[in-house]
Amino acid sequence: MGLIYELTVAAPPGDVIGYDMARLADAMDIKDPARLAVETHGSQGLVTIYPEDPLADVLLPDPEYLVMDSTGRIWVGLHHNGRRTRLRLYDPKSGSAQRMLLFGTTGAGKSTGGQIILAGMKRSGVGVFYADLKGGQSAPEARGNCDWCVYTQEGAIAQLRTFWNVMKAREIRYAAAGRSKFLMDRPDPLMYMVVDEANRLLEKGAPYRDEATFYIKDIGRTGRSLGMGIALFAQAGHLEELGGSDTLRSMLKEGEVILLRWTSNLMRQLVSDGLLPAGQKLAAIPKYAGAVELVSQFDDTEADEDRPGTQGSGYHLSGLHPTARTRFFKVGSEMPTDGLDPEMLALYGDGPHSVLEKESWQDAGEAYVGKLDGMEAYQAACPEKFEEPEDGGGGRGRGGNRGGGGRGARSAPVPVIPAPEPRTAGRLNLTDRVLAVLENNDGEELDAQEILAAVNADGGRKVSLGGVRNALTGLHG
Ligand SMILES: Nc1ncnc2c1ncn2[C@@H]1O[C@H](COP(=O)(O)OP(=O)(O)OP(=O)(O)O)[C@@H](O)[C@H]1O
Ligand SMILES: [Mg+2]
Repeated sequence: MGLIYELTVAAPPGDVIGYDMARLADAMDIKDPARLAVETHGSQGLVTIYPEDPLADVLLPDPEYLVMDSTGRIWVGLHHNGRRTRLRLYDPKSGSAQRMLLFGTTGAGKSTGGQIILAGMKRSGVGVFYADLKGGQSAPEARGNCDWCVYTQEGAIAQLRTFWNVMKAREIRYAAAGRSKFLMDRPDPLMYMVVDEANRLLEKGAPYRDEATFYIKDIGRTGRSLGMGIALFAQAGHLEELGGSDTLRSMLKEGEVILLRWTSNLMRQLVSDGLLPAGQKLAAIPKYAGAVELVSQFDDTEADEDRPGTQGSGYHLSGLHPTARTRFFKVGSEMPTDGLDPEMLALYGDGPHSVLEKESWQDAGEAYVGKLDGMEAYQAACPEKFEEPEDGGGGRGRGGNRGGGGRGARSAPVPVIPAPEPRTAGRLNLTDRVLAVLENNDGEELDAQEILAAVNADGGRKVSLGGVRNALTGLHG
């Protein structure tokens, strides 16, 4: 291995270092710009010259390393200087789940990096609802390694709604138990809702844009302290393409953000939106790595037509070193395989994946329990959309929306309700319903079974004995 040179550069205080990678490499007579890494922060700069591209082959020593560490982070790749790239899934100090955004242009490596994250989640005991809006092509190996996979827009909405229902159920349960924080696996698992190709759900004109934006925003806002995180993998040219820039901006600023190869449009937006801190510049990620040689027609040698790609390279914007180039581990088989890729499957391992706590299954409902997809899932998760109108007429009735069921159906009505009633809370929450039973009983002693029977007879949503016990614990506490 050759020598590594590191130069520190300083501009006059108050100045911001700007540079052009290609010109810098040229000035130093470096043919392959990937040998050069430049990190900047305001007037400070760090230039590292490597004998070869330090991120040409980033190998995962063993899939076992994908398990979350004691700080709640998973190791997904390396920075140019050999430092680990670690993404936080959980903050044990505040007991919170995270928001995550992985974005870049088409072919930048989102879905593959996403599989590393999914495998890390599985190996760390995180329960995952995974929606792939490319019909299951993005990460075929995720099926069977996540709690619930769907491949349609309707399925994604059903998952979001279900995830949201569970979030509300946990909220009530935790409040009743006097808990202000989520504690992983005590007793509920950390859960993530992951949407790959989230742009298809959120772009302008997408059939469920408003509904999806509502759920994602609300989960992003309140899911953290309930152990319910959200991760979006998206291809975006403009931030507005992702459900309106407000949602995204707050997610970008506070969540885990990885930016892979981008388009110039997106970069302009990031800068003008202030999403890239002032004084930090990112060197563009070219599509191909390696030096470009000019070959004379009189020369015998042929330039190699198959230059290595840069997939999986990008920046961990929310990390400690946002301007340090990073790369996801190189995973999967060298050549495409027929069917599922055994190397990808090995990432996830043979062990069982985590599932949603039984206590919430009733709130999750049929769509979850039956692991439904398509219009069937949508109808089960959002029954209010399919109710007959009071006057019995109108085109939004049950029959009218059934026709387009199945994968990829887009005939559903565009949602009109921005803030749906949670099924969980119903009109009254469970604690209130238990209280009502106790108050109506004139002080006579009731055991939990009797309270359960009375609560279930009050005309509201059916509840479980565990739910009643939790509510009682909360009341006693
Ligand atoms: N971390 C990685 N390790 C190995 N190969 C990778 C990695 N990331 C990407 N690739 C290669 O690049 C190809 C494109 O990557 P991927 O499908 O993940 O990109 P994408 O950003 O999801 O693209 P799209 O927008 O089309 O969905 C993959 O099929 C794979 O061959
Ligand atoms: Mg993809």
